[in-house]
Amino acid sequence: MCGIAGYVGQRNAVDVVLDMIKRLEYRGYDSTGIAFPVDGELRILKRAGKLSELKAVVDDENPSSHQAIVHSRWATHGAPTDLNAHPHYDHGARIALIHNGIIENYIELKEELVRHGHIFQSETDSEVAAHIVGQEYQEGVPLEEAVRRAVKKLRGAFAFVVVSVDEPDKVVCVRNASPLVIGFGKDGENMVASDITAMLPYTKQFAILENDMVAVVTPDGVKVTNLNGRPVDLETFEANYDVKSAEKGGYDHFMLKEIHEQPDVVRQCLAGRLSEKTVTLDGLFSDHVWQEIDRVNIIACGTAYHAGLMGKYLFEKMLQLPTDVHFSSEFRYGEPILSPRSLAVFISQSGETADSLAALKLCQQHRIRTLGIVNVVGSSIAREVDKVLFTQAGPEISVASTKAYVAQAIVLMLLGIHIAQKKEMPGVRTADLVQALRNFPDAVQEALDLEGQMQEIAKKFADSSLVFFLGRRADANIALEAALKLKEIAYIPTQECPAGEMKHGPLALIDQGTLAVFGATDKEIREKLVSNIKEIQARGGHVLALTGNDDDSLDKIAEDVVKLPPCDDPYLDALVSIVPLQMLAYYMAKERGCEIDQPRNLAKSVTVE
Ligand code: M6R
Repeated sequence: MCGIAGYVGQRNAVDVVLDMIKRLEYRGYDSTGIAFPVDGELRILKRAGKLSELKAVVDDENPSSHQAIVHSRWATHGAPTDLNAHPHYDHGARIALIHNGIIENYIELKEELVRHGHIFQSETDSEVAAHIVGQEYQEGVPLEEAVRRAVKKLRGAFAFVVVSVDEPDKVVCVRNASPLVIGFGKDGENMVASDITAMLPYTKQFAILENDMVAVVTPDGVKVTNLNGRPVDLETFEANYDVKSAEKGGYDHFMLKEIHEQPDVVRQCLAGRLSEKTVTLDGLFSDHVWQEIDRVNIIACGTAYHAGLMGKYLFEKMLQLPTDVHFSSEFRYGEPILSPRSLAVFISQSGETADSLAALKLCQQHRIRTLGIVNVVGSSIAREVDKVLFTQAGPEISVASTKAYVAQAIVLMLLGIHIAQKKEMPGVRTADLVQALRNFPDAVQEALDLEGQMQEIAKKFADSSLVFFLGRRADANIALEAALKLKEIAYIPTQECPAGEMKHGPLALIDQGTLAVFGATDKEIREKLVSNIKEIQARGGHVLALTGNDDDSLDKIAEDVVKLPPCDDPYLDALVSIVPLQMLAYYMAKERGCEIDQPRNLAKSVTVE
């Protein structure tokens, strides 16, 4: 999604905001632009394409300024062109604006503005917001008052940052649903950005701007008001990770770095939550609430949805707790049957996914208890849910989610054990599960040792035009996630389904040399897979099987076998298999020369519908 950054202070603001927007590249974008004052005018430079295109034109001018705003756009209204790129400028008012989100009533507002003589350059909803602010500003009020008045006319989800030529050393910003964070610098500098990653080299002190708050950022301080102009206090906090953790740390891509971080991520995720034989999750519902809960709805998108499917497998198998998993985008427009005794669990790395937020609002309207499993502290979902469990995975920069998925699955297992404890279910051997969890970081570490083998296999199959991902039970869920990884970063079409479904249709796609990847970690039904494997081989398909290193039953059957460390629990046995499959996707994408960290057409945080 779009990235926003603004800076006022002693340094060269142009250099600072360009550095900040680089750190937001992971959000995905297709054009960038910058505004800064020069000789009493706002200089605005915008370019479609990569940030390097913008940097080249900025470098030609070699500007210096103490106030600048910058934007990376992910096109929604209008193609990714120079003209549609932000900042948008209102000539009459001499202000520039950058925007993240969507203005729903922009067409009617634009018609009205055109009637009043406003001329538009772009097809965007954002330019309309610039003119609405401009119209108010021309009434002679301070910029922040113009922003407050404008916001009252706009409908939608948005965050803006605005600058005026006539009010130097001032950046005004407002938040309504789209994320915005203030960074408090030392020695006469302050800043704002879509998230804290952008500002980590400049400060560790932050505050989340809440909905309907307007902040005036100057070198000397930050003044925040509500939409009526009344001062409000912001709660500041110190970021708990440093700039290094948001950088590549020697790896070629963030994705590979994040795959390798997974043993530590699991450790971090378990930290403070395991005692000798039990799980301790603080700050959740009281005991009688857990007794009452008789159904779970898990609501999420993409990878987080796949983690939700693992949750369903676990909760139904371990707790006999009926669990449904919903795509947020379907749930929000469906007619979900929500009983008062149900629990809605929202899984989200970013905590800002628009569809998940809307689904959350729907549950709140139905007065259903809500629980978030979220990575980003201070994000919208984390703040809106009744209770939250953080995945503690650290910043995930690569668009393709890896470590967040594993952390989500681990939190779901912690939650399952917690529920078993609360519901006093003697049949659940919680002590064994706790031990299996404790050993899991080492298993993930061992799985990383498969990198060389996965690289070789990736080389062999990098030219595939279709790859199958198959399995049964938990392995079938992992197959979905593995397939998503491959298609999103290597642009290879995939077919994923429970292995038993193959002969009901997808088998028709198998051809000479087609790669079929089988998750075969489930000991109880491994035999059933053998006939599925044979069906594929009989049609010329090539089988790669992932199985436990204590099993040799597939050694003579599959053409390639990847041996995984056993984890003393079927859920974790399946989960650990995602590690080599993430590497398979990574190396196939690398072989094909794909961008990997920022796949085409995709954004890290999908903050629009
Ligand atoms: O931030 P969220 O977890 O809510 O994001 C949900 C999906 O957009 C996300 O998992 C997406 O599918 C990933 N790019 C997949 O790698």
